Amino acid sequence: MPDRTDAGRPMLRLRELTKRYRGQDRPAVDRLSLDVAAGELMVFVGPSGCGKTTTLKMINRLVEPTSGSIELDGEDVTHVDPNRLRRRIGYVIQQTGLLPHLTVGANVALVPRLLGWPSARVRARVDEMLELVGLDPAEHRDRYPRELSGGQQQRVGVARALAGDPPVLLMDEPFGATDPLTRERLQNELLRVQAEVRKTIVLVTHDIDEAIKLGDRIAVFGERSRLAQVGTPDEVLGRPADPYVKRFVGAGASLKRLHLVRLDAVPARPFPTARVTDDPALVRDLVVRSRSGSVLLLDAAERPVAWVAADDLTPLPADLAGVGLPATATLTAEATLHDALDVMLGTDGAGVILVDGDGRFRGVVGLDEVMAHVARLHAESRRHDVAAAAALGSAEGAA
Ligand SMILES: Nc1ncnc2c1ncn2[C@@H]1O[C@H](COP(=O)(O)OP(=O)(O)OP(=O)(O)O)[C@@H](O)[C@H]1O
Ligand SMILES: [Mg+2]
Repeated sequence: MPDRTDAGRPMLRLRELTKRYRGQDRPAVDRLSLDVAAGELMVFVGPSGCGKTTTLKMINRLVEPTSGSIELDGEDVTHVDPNRLRRRIGYVIQQTGLLPHLTVGANVALVPRLLGWPSARVRARVDEMLELVGLDPAEHRDRYPRELSGGQQQRVGVARALAGDPPVLLMDEPFGATDPLTRERLQNELLRVQAEVRKTIVLVTHDIDEAIKLGDRIAVFGERSRLAQVGTPDEVLGRPADPYVKRFVGAGASLKRLHLVRLDAVPARPFPTARVTDDPALVRDLVVRSRSGSVLLLDAAERPVAWVAADDLTPLPADLAGVGLPATATLTAEATLHDALDVMLGTDGAGVILVDGDGRFRGVVGLDEVMAHVARLHAESRRHDVAAAAALGSAEGAA
């Protein structure tokens, strides 16, 4: 995965941040220290009540910290005017929090109005934001939140948080109450929007799969905001810091890691190919000589058409049109190994066909290539464990 952050400059810097609510004997958040780099999407995951929402609300001062400090882009904002601060920090709250008596447009316009933008600019901004989150402005601008579906309301929440163009965005379970399909669409939209606007985002979720999909890094919270591990999704999955993180990540960590590997990370296998217009007898010779006992037929534009085996060529057909098993299992290099495995399990044929952006044949990725990559991942984790144990041993020896 490419590093999507901006040279590691911290946009948010939390130091020993603590919240003790009145009447509670234990702090809800206890000396939390964490940096979020500019342009980074940081995901908080952890059990209910561990202090995720409290932490977000301290960052934009909806909750006053009891002690500790918050820096925003190098400036200590622990004690600045919260109203001014909130114009620099967009907030998507648990349950969207749209104002029901205001139209969608007026909801999105809230911060730009507060910032005193001229009304023509506010109007243009509202439409731009609605378009960004995939809502047709003409159709949705003048409706009220209750006239929208849950998923649409969530999008308006995101549009509203982005409207004032704040460098930082806090999102508290922004896709919480949506069905899995809508959720997936909203997640993909967030990634698309983020690729465009590059905000510093802190996003809270209960869903480890969502964290893996969205996060540049993941902070796994334990009880009372103890940071059990902060790392990239691959680190958290491949090298869980302790048994708690391992349990939290859950079963299937190896399978989940495949979501993080793009198909172009594994070498595609060359495969014998022929043209649909070729002489069937020549193709049969090729099939007989091929290691897998099959050949991939391509059309004139080098796009895969069908897998042919010896059986398909006995008796020998007059031409190759319509012969063999349709070669539908194609993926481009941006797909993940998880996608590839899913496709392989859903079809027969020699594997997934890798094609370029124009659909031209580039190679075949089979189960062997995926397993070889998994073995490499395991070996890396083992090497890392050995190195970590050695470092620990020498540190103990020195102490
Ligand atoms: N206003 C409040 N007054 C007193 N205690 C509070 C208040 N808000 C939250 N708490 C307590 O602080 C702790 C952390 O709550 P918080 O809402 O931050 O958890 P969370 O991690 O967001 O949980 P969830 O995943 O359920 O949303 C909890 O024990 C909660 O009961
Ligand atoms: Mg919460």
